[in-house]
Amino acid sequence: MSEKNDVLILAIESSCDETAAAVVKNGREVLSNVISSQIALHTLYGGVVPEIASRKHIEKINQVIETALTEAEVTLDEIDAIGVTYGPGLVGALLVGVAEAKAIAYAAKKPLVGVHHIEGHIAANFIENKELEPPFLCLVVSGGHTHLVCVKDYGKFEIIGRTRDDAAGEAFDKVARAIGLGYPGGPKIDKVSKEGNPEAIVFPRAHVEDAPYDFSFSGVKSAVLNYINGCQMKGETFSQADVAASFQKAVTDVLVENAMHAVDEYGLKKLAIAGGVASNSSLRAAMKDACEKNQIEFYHPSPVYCTDNAAMIGVAAYYEYMKGTRHGWDLNAIPNLKLGER
Ligand code: KG4
Ligand code: ZN
Repeated sequence: MSEKNDVLILAIESSCDETAAAVVKNGREVLSNVISSQIALHTLYGGVVPEIASRKHIEKINQVIETALTEAEVTLDEIDAIGVTYGPGLVGALLVGVAEAKAIAYAAKKPLVGVHHIEGHIAANFIENKELEPPFLCLVVSGGHTHLVCVKDYGKFEIIGRTRDDAAGEAFDKVARAIGLGYPGGPKIDKVSKEGNPEAIVFPRAHVEDAPYDFSFSGVKSAVLNYINGCQMKGETFSQADVAASFQKAVTDVLVENAMHAVDEYGLKKLAIAGGVASNSSLRAAMKDACEKNQIEFYHPSPVYCTDNAAMIGVAAYYEYMKGTRHGWDLNAIPNLKLGER
């Protein structure tokens, strides 16, 4: 239900393999959050196939948007602005959402607000943590990104650390494939790790020289592959659960260590996590623990707001809209869009 002064955003997200639409009220209240996942389809190929993703987005997007409006019990007329992810992501997939958002905004005479996908992931923290306000540190860990971001204000960011090679989620997906768990790897490693011993195998914790907030995950990924090859060459079997748990611990340790170092150095008292890997149970537990020990307030979205969704895009679009951000009909998909760029 909405009142006259409420600001309602219709948000669209199609940067990877989820076709999603949501209606968000006043930047913090999710009236609907509809996600049509393509995971089952891409599982057949062991990963996301860009061409298939774009085609599926086209098939689903109208229906997903209609459902989002219906579930929110609002009409398009009542919407104040259309928010859409325009990068980074798969160009063909992004284009479907951007073209759709432009068409709706043009036909319904509504302002158009393009949103950076990572700004959306960070904004997911505002949905359930009504008291959370910048400044805070945010660890963004997704399939495509691993960033330590100082959130100075709404829509104002300083990236203080990033991965030099694989993103955290990418490492989870690759290791999962190598140990026979398949796609999508993150949730599967999370699950089998619960039966494994995280101390069974010591995998390397990579630190980047002279860049204390940067990450590198290609070393730990190679170490897992070497371990498996070693076992196979000796004719030995390995425990999938122990490898998964030990790998997960190696990644988590570095994420927590760098994040704690950064909050301390930047004098921040609040830490949030975001992105698909932020739903990892071991990372959440370890980060909560470390924050308690260091007297840092810890924030995280529910798992449904960690992985790709449109509600988070609606929240980010709201803060951009309130700041006066408007995009024109020339808005394009930018696959490598940098955070903070327009
Ligand atoms: O944020 P997201 O949905 O999409 C991107 O923007 O990339 O993140 C997807 C990534 C995938 O790599 C997936 O394996 C990982 O998040 N992921 C997880 C978990 N759930 C999803 N990684 C570890 N543990 C999980 N529970
Ligand atoms: Zn994402």
